[in-house]
Amino acid sequence: MDYFEYKNNELFCEEVNLKEISKNVGTPAYIYSKKTLERHANAYLRSFSSTKGLVCFSVKSLSNLSALNVLKNIGCGFDIVSGGELHRVLKIKADPNKIIFSGVGKSEEEIEYGIRNKILSFNIESGSELLRIEKIASMLKVSASISIRFNPEVDSGGHDYITTGRKGDKFGISSLEEVMQIADYAKRSKHINMVGIACHIGSQILNLESYKAAAKKTVELAERINAIGIELKFLDMGGGLGVPYNGETPPDPSDLVKALESAMSDRKEKIVLEPGRTISANAGVLLTSIEYIKDDFLIVDAAMNDLLRPSLYGAEHDVWNINNAQSANAKNWNIVGPICESSDFIRKNITLSAKESDVLAVKTAGAYGFVMSSNYNSRPRCAEVLVDGDGFKIIKKRESYSDLLNLEEVPND
Ligand code: LLP
Repeated sequence: MDYFEYKNNELFCEEVNLKEISKNVGTPAYIYSKKTLERHANAYLRSFSSTKGLVCFSVKSLSNLSALNVLKNIGCGFDIVSGGELHRVLKIKADPNKIIFSGVGKSEEEIEYGIRNKILSFNIESGSELLRIEKIASMLKVSASISIRFNPEVDSGGHDYITTGRKGDKFGISSLEEVMQIADYAKRSKHINMVGIACHIGSQILNLESYKAAAKKTVELAERINAIGIELKFLDMGGGLGVPYNGETPPDPSDLVKALESAMSDRKEKIVLEPGRTISANAGVLLTSIEYIKDDFLIVDAAMNDLLRPSLYGAEHDVWNINNAQSANAKNWNIVGPICESSDFIRKNITLSAKESDVLAVKTAGAYGFVMSSNYNSRPRCAEVLVDGDGFKIIKKRESYSDLLNLEEVPND
């Protein structure tokens, strides 16, 4: 459930009329609802039956500092995948003991940054990464905490580009023998402290079966690791639960937590989750104005540089007209942006009533929306706004033309 709804035919975010924001801030702009972010995060935080859970919000899905701060304040930790994301969460003074560093390709600089800031764990994905972390920890004369991300080899379904837990995907370690060798090495190392095991099986997952299968394999692996004398602090089941974009009916986060607690009822470790989309997706919309109407095209001022998901994955986001909930004189449209590519579309084949200058809200855009935006076609990145009750604040300014050129230089002839 989210807090975007029509009141007297006008679309509101919490108590703010989106028309007011579009007039004040302009379009395109991402609008987030604070109450929705909190509600979705609490759906995880409050579902754990004990203090056994740790919810690390996946920063890659929505990384604006103000959004992260909202989540930190209600108890979330963070799942990060780069030095840049670490910089963000440190900026909002996140508890380092709730920061997990994921990703297959951590650089030396990123590892040192994480170790110096005493993060909870590096989720390592190869033996070489372990050696690199050990080398840096030894140089700094400390011990670094790690978890091993294994590949449970379950196919969670969903788009090929975002499925991660199958044999042959680049993520995790597929051979359990290799996992055991790495664990054994970690046990003997003075500079490595093995604290967990981790897996992440994909994204936009719409059923619990693959999670249950992965949890079973995680428990089996934890037992093998205990058997060589390593006590673990947590079992990290990643993120990945899906959201309704267009009529899908994913399980509730509380169902996921219950299923995992039950699969792990004999274990004493904490359960870590790394949800992204389920917290941020329905907490955000992209506002865009209709510039021109031509044939069955609504040509809008947002483009694939603002929201890449439709072009990249064929994702279908629902679109609403902020001034018109009725579909009395609705027609079928293709909503396209100004970028010079046929792949630049926001939504194909959608029925809605629309006229030039109307403002549309592209729904479920809070996750993997702004964070995947670019300056393609030299388009300044759009603004981000946070609504809180009956007020709103710009939490990222729209870029200007001079921002576009900020870091560029022309060498003297
Ligand atoms: N943990 C790890 C290790 C991940 O790789 C991801 C997402 C998450 C957690 C969070 O997954 P979520 O709960 O948001 O599904 N750009 C794509 C999604 C890519 C997901 C990458 N990894 C999209 O727009 O659909």
